Amino acid sequence: MSAPDEQKQDTPGDFGDLGKVLVIIPTYNESDNIAGIVGRLRAAAPGADVLIADDNSPDGTGDVADGLAAHDPHVQVLHRKGKEGLGAAYLAGFHWGIDRGYDVLVEMDADGSHQPEQLPRLLEAVRDADLVLGSRWVPGGAIVNWPASRKLLSRGGSTYSRLMLGLDLRDITGGFRAFRRDTLVGIDMDSVASQGYCFQVDLAWRAARRGYRVVEVPITFVERERGDSKMSRAIVAEALWRVTAWGTGHRLGQLRGAAASRLPRGGASRKTAGEDDPGNTPAR
Ligand code: GDD
Ligand code: MN
Repeated sequence: MSAPDEQKQDTPGDFGDLGKVLVIIPTYNESDNIAGIVGRLRAAAPGADVLIADDNSPDGTGDVADGLAAHDPHVQVLHRKGKEGLGAAYLAGFHWGIDRGYDVLVEMDADGSHQPEQLPRLLEAVRDADLVLGSRWVPGGAIVNWPASRKLLSRGGSTYSRLMLGLDLRDITGGFRAFRRDTLVGIDMDSVASQGYCFQVDLAWRAARRGYRVVEVPITFVERERGDSKMSRAIVAEALWRVTAWGTGHRLGQLRGAAASRLPRGGASRKTAGEDDPGNTPAR
């Protein structure tokens, strides 16, 4: 296997002016991966703290994580009681970080698919953005070692979401991201119900439609060498029905808005619930 960008590290910057950075790594059965990825991350972005959010993995990932934390004050572990999905683990991690005063919260997989050496480019971009998406599907982005079927699913999922939701984002399902704290607070994350990977679509859509600046930067995604993906039919089904429901609501809102604007003045309010009044609009 080749990981072309693994050795070519982005220039590690001094992110002091960004404030405190926390990288959240959700884990479920990643005991063979977690030590390596945390080591790479600490080397690539020494100024960032790490939170491992483990769902009581049966393979002992939580114990390995505790061992890492015992030797490095910049590494912490959030032990959760059982497998509740990627979304719930991230929400718990975001709360943990916001409560402790972190200014930038990063999502990153444990299995090496997201290269810590590329984190500096996400952090660089979040200086001028509210949410940065590491993107496989913009020029310069790439995928190493994924079968055609999985590429199709990723591209298809992003394209379907883009068309349904009317969003100009190429990689809306990806999970290597940097959020400003204020973005997470502003998108009302406590009302997020998505559990699986469509959690990622949910958060990007909430941020974009509330007017936050969402920016994509190219990344090279490298398929894991050890352990198994947790992708399942249930995860795909959840994404499909939720995106379809959001998209239908969004389109109906647009139609109602267009119809109302054709009525004589005073005949109807142009405002349609939800769409034109996203709430929590960022103050800039
Ligand atoms: N705590 C916790 N609980 N962690 C979980 C759970 C869960 O229920 N399910 C998955 N994870 C962790 C994994 O241990 C891993 O660190 C990360 O979430 C991603 O899971 P994978 O199973 O490796 O995902 P993938 O490679 O199939 O999917 C990738 O592509 C998706 C679609 O683009 C990831 O990048 C996803 O983030 C992305 O949404
Ligand atoms: Mn993976």
